[in-house]
Amino acid sequence: MTSYLRNTWYVAGFADEFVPGKLVARTLLGEPLVLFRTDDGSIAALADRCPHRFAPLSAGKVCDGGRSVECAYHGLRFGADGACVHNPQGDGRIPKAAAVPARVARERDRLVWLWVGDSARADESLIPDYSRATSAAEDATVRGYMPTACGYQLLVDNILDLSHADYLHAGTLGSGALTRCKPQVSDLGERGVRIAWISSGDLTPPAFDMHLREQGQPTDQWTEVTWTAPGCMQLHVGSTLLGESRERGVDTLNLHLATPETATSCHYWFWTTRDFAVHPQANEQIRKIVEHAFSMQDKPMLEAQQRVIGDAEFGALNPVLLPGDAGSVRVRRKLAQLIAQEQAE
Ligand code: FES
Ligand SMILES: [Fe+2]
Repeated sequence: MTSYLRNTWYVAGFADEFVPGKLVARTLLGEPLVLFRTDDGSIAALADRCPHRFAPLSAGKVCDGGRSVECAYHGLRFGADGACVHNPQGDGRIPKAAAVPARVARERDRLVWLWVGDSARADESLIPDYSRATSAAEDATVRGYMPTACGYQLLVDNILDLSHADYLHAGTLGSGALTRCKPQVSDLGERGVRIAWISSGDLTPPAFDMHLREQGQPTDQWTEVTWTAPGCMQLHVGSTLLGESRERGVDTLNLHLATPETATSCHYWFWTTRDFAVHPQANEQIRKIVEHAFSMQDKPMLEAQQRVIGDAEFGALNPVLLPGDAGSVRVRRKLAQLIAQEQAE
């Protein structure tokens, strides 16, 4: 059975998905939830299961101007804290047991975060600061949501070992440089790992090369990813002509946010930004490249891996290790430690 870190934040969606009056059904870590924006603008997250006859609350509607959700079956209403606030049946008395579990949700930097563990321990200071990426100009931003039928750790591995770009995304995002270069891995406190691939003298991938001052020239390249437990990654990727400063080249700042849906499926939100080609037309071109790479190359591969792995535990299959796996090995180990610690408490 998959174990998850629970006393931590998981991304539950883009903040602008949660519009007043709309219910969002979403399963996180195997728990079906219904989320909605309340009258005070905050986000409510309740178990998507009415305690009466177990109808999904997400089939109901937002009521009382955002203060409650009404079950579509017999009309019980529940507030943002999960307590039943209205019973239209009989004398209207509210049964003691009429309540649904509620989770703590917070909106930060245009993302909604969910704390799935003990609500009393929800610590907002643990939400990673992604304000730089989420405040980039719209014309320099390509973001999206891609549900993927693979365990979230396969998606995390995908971002932590970008040497796959040289093969899976050859022709757009790969040039061979990452395969030849050894990642440097360092710990960032208890819950973070940083991985850097720095190379010098290689051509940069075509999607970057076309935006440099001269094309087809050797470059200095950087790929630096910061993982924050359990599934959040911020990634800098860029290049500059050989020997020139980073500022003269092209740089991108990207978020890759993975949240388990079930043991073998995950939610994936990406938010890519850049400091070049900032105009609507270029943005559309770049959107096509990014979406093609993610949905036509990464997603089919991740889902195929999951089909091959099936229900087996990843480590039990004795995966062969390559130099590029140094980061994901450190991350898997760290996450396992955090989960073991939490379970021992
Ligand atoms: S199932 Fe929800 S009120 Fe009956
Ligand atoms: Fe990829």
